Amino acid sequence: MTKLVILEYPDPRLRKKAVEVTVFDAALRQFIDDLLETMYAANGVGLAATQVDVHRRVIVLDVSDTRDRPLVLINPEILSKEGEGPGEEGCLSLPGIYDKLTRAARIRVRALGRDGQAFEMDAQGLLGVCIQHEMDHLEGKLFVDYLSELKRAFIRRRLEKERRQRSAGSDSRAHAPAL
Ligand code: NI
Repeated sequence: MTKLVILEYPDPRLRKKAVEVTVFDAALRQFIDDLLETMYAANGVGLAATQVDVHRRVIVLDVSDTRDRPLVLINPEILSKEGEGPGEEGCLSLPGIYDKLTRAARIRVRALGRDGQAFEMDAQGLLGVCIQHEMDHLEGKLFVDYLSELKRAFIRRRLEKERRQRSAGSDSRAHAPAL
């Protein structure tokens, strides 16, 4: 397996819209394994293909405490949404940045699994937020897009400063779960 490089905001490649997956072959399964390995290595609870510069509609998630319940959603679609709730979100493409935003509280999703089998599932709580967050990535959308321009400018400056510090050899980032 190969650990992939995660793009960081404001990289313009994070803005590309992903296309549907139509071929379910060994190369796709290998990519999914690499995506999962990359997510686990980064301590993330979710990762979208877009974040590793592959613009196909694939997301992986694991919201379990034991980190052994991988979930793969290909060509995911939200069938229905209910209620709304605020939650705190982070993102592997915005290391160390967290903010509160409102998402649907419960969703019903249809997707294909790694071998192309269709399934439907209900999701709420962290899983529901995570699926909505990762599906936004496939549209080229990031959670900071829901915040004010003022906040985004602050976040860009902070990430830029942290990148300079990282390249100078120090890494002060918290290793909290990110999506
Ligand atoms: Ni994210």
